[in-house]
Amino acid sequence: MLTVCGRSPTLSELRALPKTSESNPAEPVLSALNSCVKSEHWRGPEGVLYQLAHPKIRPANLGADYGGVGEREFGSDYSLFIFAHIDGHDSRDLLLARYHVQRDMSEGKSTYRKVADLPNQLVPEERRAGMITTTWFLLYNNMFTALPRTAAAQAYRAYLGVDISKNEGLFPVPDEPKDYDRKAVGAPQCAVCHSTLDPLSYPLSRYDGVSSVLDPFGRYLPGRLSQYYEALIPGVSTMPENGALLGKPVTSLTQWAVVASNSDQFARSRVLDFWKIFMHRPPQP
Ligand code: HEC
Repeated sequence: MLTVCGRSPTLSELRALPKTSESNPAEPVLSALNSCVKSEHWRGPEGVLYQLAHPKIRPANLGADYGGVGEREFGSDYSLFIFAHIDGHDSRDLLLARYHVQRDMSEGKSTYRKVADLPNQLVPEERRAGMITTTWFLLYNNMFTALPRTAAAQAYRAYLGVDISKNEGLFPVPDEPKDYDRKAVGAPQCAVCHSTLDPLSYPLSRYDGVSSVLDPFGRYLPGRLSQYYEALIPGVSTMPENGALLGKPVTSLTQWAVVASNSDQFARSRVLDFWKIFMHRPPQP
């Protein structure tokens, strides 16, 4: 009760327990849970779900030197994350949502509603993949790298619960990495990871975080590689947009998101997150 409601049961609530225990022992607990998952402690700013989102969103306030980049960009990421976890919504929308979420306050409570667009979100609807195509995700992870490996690794870590930097989730693709951006990742000691990571990242290569300070952040640009990188890294624009995830070929990031959100790894990571909230530690053998 402390975890979900943010308070311990009152004496009268505790005294009420034995009376109902014979008919349905779980009923008082369930009814407390049902009402507390509507509380600000669970779904408001700084609430349990909000904190669960921190390592996935990785917020940062870059301050005035960067034009005040921060909350303005990632506020709606938290709203989408919370929306996907409440009121019986499908948590696969973390990766599938083609909508955004607006948080409002009504009588001291946060409410969340779907909206088709938000002013600072520029990826067109048909190219959206929930949390991994928001302005903040692209700005923070894709930034200005031709092949956004960091973005793919973070998407994998945050939503599939597997971390390539710890040798997890390796599904090597034959003849990869092709090393389109000439980073010498083909060496055997690098290919161990990059034969999985590079094909995982290709579908993100047309999503732009920052191109120049004059351009808006977080866009889908089909000609991104030839426009911004070919002159610096000749040949880089031959990099395909299709790649592979969990041993399955995918042609776009939206397809990547469908495969990811239907995977066992995704389901497991959703359960594990909540297990840790309720049990205060990962499952023990
Ligand atoms: C244990 C797995 C692993 C090995 C081995 C590995 N990498 Fe990586 N590499 C990663 C991951 C994961 C990322 C993405 C960064 C992150 O962790 O978020 C990455 C990112 C990169 C990047 C992109 C950095 C950026 O800022 O965009 C380059 C370049 C790179 N690796 C080169 C290499 C080279 C060269 C080698 C071999 C000397 C190598 N890596 C070995 C897992 C690995």
